[in-house]
Amino acid sequence: MCGIVGYTGFKPAAPILLQGLARLEYRGYDSAGLALLRSGQPILTIKKAGKIHCLVSAVQEARISPVFTSGLGHTRWATHGLPVDKNAHPHSDCRNQLAVVHNGIIENYRALKRRLRSQGHVFKSDTDSEVLAHLLEQGLRRKGWVGAVRWALAQVQGTYSVVMGYGGEPEKLIGAKSGGGALVVGLGRGENFLASDIPALLSHTRRFFYLQDGELAVVSPSSTRVLRLSNGRSVTKRPLEVDWSVQQAEKEGYAHFMLKEILEQPRALKRTLAGRLDPKTGEVKLEGPFWSSAFLRRFRNITLLGMGTSAYAGMIGRDLLEKYLRVPAQLENASEFRYRKPPIGKDSLVIVLSQSGETVDTLVALREAKAQGATIIAICNAMGSSATREADGVLLTHAGPEIGVASTKAFTAQLGALWFLTLYLARLRRTIPPGLLLQKGRALGHVPRLMQKVLRQRHHVARLARKYAVFHNFLFLGRGIQYPIALEAALKLKEISYIHAEGYPAGEMKHGPIALIDRRMPVVAMALRSSTAHEKMLNNLMEVRARSGRLIALVEKGDREARRLAEDTLELPPVEEDLGPFVSILPLQLFAYEVARRKGCEIDQPRHLAKSVTVE
Ligand code: M6R
Repeated sequence: MCGIVGYTGFKPAAPILLQGLARLEYRGYDSAGLALLRSGQPILTIKKAGKIHCLVSAVQEARISPVFTSGLGHTRWATHGLPVDKNAHPHSDCRNQLAVVHNGIIENYRALKRRLRSQGHVFKSDTDSEVLAHLLEQGLRRKGWVGAVRWALAQVQGTYSVVMGYGGEPEKLIGAKSGGGALVVGLGRGENFLASDIPALLSHTRRFFYLQDGELAVVSPSSTRVLRLSNGRSVTKRPLEVDWSVQQAEKEGYAHFMLKEILEQPRALKRTLAGRLDPKTGEVKLEGPFWSSAFLRRFRNITLLGMGTSAYAGMIGRDLLEKYLRVPAQLENASEFRYRKPPIGKDSLVIVLSQSGETVDTLVALREAKAQGATIIAICNAMGSSATREADGVLLTHAGPEIGVASTKAFTAQLGALWFLTLYLARLRRTIPPGLLLQKGRALGHVPRLMQKVLRQRHHVARLARKYAVFHNFLFLGRGIQYPIALEAALKLKEISYIHAEGYPAGEMKHGPIALIDRRMPVVAMALRSSTAHEKMLNNLMEVRARSGRLIALVEKGDREARRLAEDTLELPPVEEDLGPFVSILPLQLFAYEVARRKGCEIDQPRHLAKSVTVE
């Protein structure tokens, strides 16, 4: 959940590290630090509680010499120890001869710390990570730099993604990984990089490889070498070339990444569908042996797995797959999956959804499903991430880097991939008549234009946000395929504006939540006319009004009846029921954004959250 950057080359390291950290700030933002290395100089470490700008100021004040051309940096999401200067990374040993940045949790740190203390080591922080610096110090007494790293990591239990630098060999950074989130090696000319995520390095290179669990990378300006941690054997890596641009990782004039990403959704969805769906004919295609395998014609049940927003996209995917393939499908919160004993096996298709492809709960569930013999498809935004490497088939969503902690464009891109996959499988299994299949494909191809129309309502949404930002509780109601949208809209509001919000199936309202309704509890209802349960939804609206509830309804343009019932409305263009989620979520993302903005919240970096949850 923390962010890591390492640089070794010929340029001053500090600006490169600070820029990388700023791009990784979405991963953790309670404190940050960097360590700079140079032959014959003591390691220079600067660390500060607070956001990256606090570190930037401290670095500016320190007037660092440009001779430091190697270094490592970290932005922290606290697990062990308060977010104060001393707990910020990098951590060092007793002699300040090395520096360590760590993402993950060292589970046996108490025992290691006790032992190291009894051997005379003095600890300066409350973190679990610092034990690693002292273990390395011990290792260095008997072994070389690489040997010391392997020796130290062999004693650590838990998860880690680490970058380490040693004053004795300042140009040779070492990265290693075992759980603890992604670690990529970025390849340059006369310079090389390490980072938790690709966007951190996009200004410098587009060539990367990912470290796998159990691997160690020795990175110097002119070479990168990968070894297995267990036996020291060399591993060959094939670099991948990403098509993400630097602009995609920047705000480009928008006040927040979240706003940029909300408004970018029509384009992102087009990218998801490009080359897979012909929007004119409605034809769908997927290339590669996996996509024509016999298994895809014969699997008997489907499980979708994800967390947070990805899980809500999965709920919609479940409904689509079940409806059009006539195969039992279930959505499981990935963190709960292994606590049950779901009857899956060789006949099961498991679809894993993850923007980052690094969410630990989702990866654990993926592995569990794999161990039970299921075939895995990963729907993922991050090329080369763990989920994509471990799955049998991969559908990249191509939404471009998503930086805002609140997921927006990744969600609609996941819906696009799920829709597309449903049509593809329905064609393969002949569960939809060919004419209808093409018609559905064309309708899907038309969605980016509909989304564009809906996003034009931004100013109307902002007016509503002004009116409703004063409330402390919200209910979101939806039926059928709009129920996951109620959940997702409630999640958006709570995570960035800290307003309590709940999503419910509208039918559940009379079973309890209706007791909450009064003048201080706005209810947001998805009341699109295309919904098969439209009449029932109208009844729900009346019930809310009868109890003096404040009602905001999402209605289809021209639906006078729904309009009459609601205090305020958000109008959507007519859209067929199954495609409704693509458009209904947009004004609600904007609503959450505008409410948070009015409340002065930290929209792109909401408190306590991190973009990628890599610890359980
Ligand atoms: O990277 P993933 O899609 O696996 O992340 C899953 C959740 O952590 C993520 O969707 C989270 O709920 C977001 N903060 C939602 O906006």
